[in-house]
Amino acid sequence: MKILHVVGARPNFMKVAPVVAGLEKKPDVYQVIVHTGQHYDENMSSVFFNQLGIPEPDINLGVGSGSHAQQTAQIMRRFEPVVLEQRPDLVLVYGDVNSTVAAALVCSKLLIPVGHVEAGLRSCDRTMPEEINRLLTDQLADYLFTPSADGDANLIKENIAPEKIFRVGNVMIDTLVRLLPRARKTDPLPELTREAYALVTLHRPSNVDDPDKLADILTALDTISQKLPLLFPMHPRTRAKMAAMHLTPADSRLHIVDPLGYLEFLALQDRARLVITDSGGIQEETTYLGIPCLTLRENTERPVTITAGTNRLVGSDPRRLVDAVEAILMRGPQPAAIPELWDGQAATRIAAILAEKIV
Ligand code: UD1
Repeated sequence: MKILHVVGARPNFMKVAPVVAGLEKKPDVYQVIVHTGQHYDENMSSVFFNQLGIPEPDINLGVGSGSHAQQTAQIMRRFEPVVLEQRPDLVLVYGDVNSTVAAALVCSKLLIPVGHVEAGLRSCDRTMPEEINRLLTDQLADYLFTPSADGDANLIKENIAPEKIFRVGNVMIDTLVRLLPRARKTDPLPELTREAYALVTLHRPSNVDDPDKLADILTALDTISQKLPLLFPMHPRTRAKMAAMHLTPADSRLHIVDPLGYLEFLALQDRARLVITDSGGIQEETTYLGIPCLTLRENTERPVTITAGTNRLVGSDPRRLVDAVEAILMRGPQPAAIPELWDGQAATRIAAILAEKIV
């Protein structure tokens, strides 16, 4: 059985790692890794392959950045000949980035079965490019691997046949479970983490593309930094927007650093007093770690991080963010649970299902 994995952007890498490792243990499985090149900076891509132990990609499509249409089209153009040449029995796509939907579309037209890892998540907000990618990828996929019960329910509502849906748990948490002991041995940015701190990430177009909104958020972060120093590993998109807008944070307790490796970032999450983010995966990782998370969005496609975990939506109103930080600092630890099947074994379940279904 030949399985081709398609990855392209940072959040894909922690998802593919355990699936490749799980399938390696199965007899007669031959794996090919295709990197679309959507993310190409060392600290957005290679560092994750190294730290997570993912084999070097067999093929890199080198698409780079562009508008959504350009990037998606470029991936499709460059990926189609690869599929025709490789003739895989199954293509696995991950998460909700442009590489995910582009690869799924190519394969479905070539009648190559597609498996979607992290299927069924819905924010129900079509202004979010990832929501379009999720909806379309799930319509095209033949095997839908969901991380939680809400994923199954969303797919059933969209008339996906139940026999295509497999609730396996969260592959991103597989990677976290495996690497947390190693992360805990690292001591990233020691000069900045001697006292309590909050960790910040921000990159969604809805937060960083509008100059007024980004300026408001930075003002709120400055206010928060009076109480608690902030560490802000900054995504290149956000860095570019700030430079274009000539924005500089006013307070020196807001420390902006370059994007970090997986182990360093995990160690910083694990030790943070709280996390402020607009990322999807970080909502999940903080839930697993029991660290309070404030999400700068109006909705989330990961509701279990709120119902079971430590996540809270604060929207985009900077006042709400400042108030929410104060509330966390006032109160003690809150009870939180790890969602069902977020146990480090999701990829093992995927490998078992594929070994049984595809011969
Ligand atoms: C993408 C995903 C998003 C995910 C995020 C994680 C889509 C639609 N979005 O967003 O879901 O949360 O990755 O990081 O697929 N850039 C670099 N170096 C890189 C990559 C990007 O400088 O290695 C800069 C470029 O200016 C580029 C911009 O970041 O134009 C945006 O990159 P892009 O891949 O379009 O989307 P992300 O914002 O990274």
